[in-house]
Amino acid sequence: MAKAFAPGKCILFGEHAVVYGHPAVAVAIDSGVEVTIEESDRWTLEGIPFDSARHPHISHILDEVFLYDGSSLRMEVNSGLFSAAGLGSSAALSNAMGAALHSHTKPGEPIDRVELARMGHSAEARAQQGRASPTDTATSALGGCVVVSGEQVEGTRHVFDASLSTPEGDRSWSVNVVDLPSDMEEAWLVIGFTGEVSPTGRMVAGVAQLLKEKPELETEMDAIATITRAGLTALSVGNLDAVGMAMDACHEKLQLLGVSSPSLEALVEAARPHALGAKLTGAGGGGCMVALTREPQRVAEAIEVAGGRSLISGLGAPGVHLL
Ligand code: MEV
Repeated sequence: MAKAFAPGKCILFGEHAVVYGHPAVAVAIDSGVEVTIEESDRWTLEGIPFDSARHPHISHILDEVFLYDGSSLRMEVNSGLFSAAGLGSSAALSNAMGAALHSHTKPGEPIDRVELARMGHSAEARAQQGRASPTDTATSALGGCVVVSGEQVEGTRHVFDASLSTPEGDRSWSVNVVDLPSDMEEAWLVIGFTGEVSPTGRMVAGVAQLLKEKPELETEMDAIATITRAGLTALSVGNLDAVGMAMDACHEKLQLLGVSSPSLEALVEAARPHALGAKLTGAGGGGCMVALTREPQRVAEAIEVAGGRSLISGLGAPGVHLL
């Protein structure tokens, strides 16, 4: 039997802009996806016959990445993430499945997190009609705090490069990590799920269309990049107040890109009185928001009272690993 866990991710700054090569900062969160696989006399997922068409991430990894032709598998997937909600659940699934399959096919060999991040990115790109940055998969694979950008960002440690041909042209990204200060124990993320699922591919395509119609919105993308750099500087020295301010500013720019929604606005507004900053996270259009706070229980309660579901996490959980 092989078992692996991969964390979800939360983007603190730079979603959407990162698809166009601007920087994004994301942290791995405490919740994630656990995958268990075991040889069996038939293919099953969660006890029912496995239908590859309904699970493109799993079948991509089995058939195209691992070229798996071994015996049938019993697969169990246990997720602590809201899915299709901006927390990188499909990236975490790809990474945990890849790590479990690696351990099943090459027992005793250590997993290669960069390789897992790369194959997860190719699965995401397929699922998002060719428009996907490596942010989700890299953060879930590497853990900690990850900075993805079209160019090297000062103060970060380079890990690998990724590239992709998108409908808007060829893109390449540098994937980097940043060590978070050790005295961040008082800082918590509270994630609020609106209850509305929102496919990333559709939201990313919507932004691409909007930029085509209103090219002047490029300046908002540039503004997100400036906020992201300021937010990263604040995060790396543990200046939580400034991180919160940058999160608020980033949310305003994302509103202008049309990716917020009434339900996201309601949760952001509910969280702010007890938070250092709050914004939508991930693709938007529903899905989740995130607040940075020293009072996680209060913020979680405020989110629940406003009709959302909450999840409390520290910043920068470990990346994908075998269990
Ligand atoms: C989704 O978690 C983040 C987006 O920037 C898309 C991507 O980076 O692929 C909206």
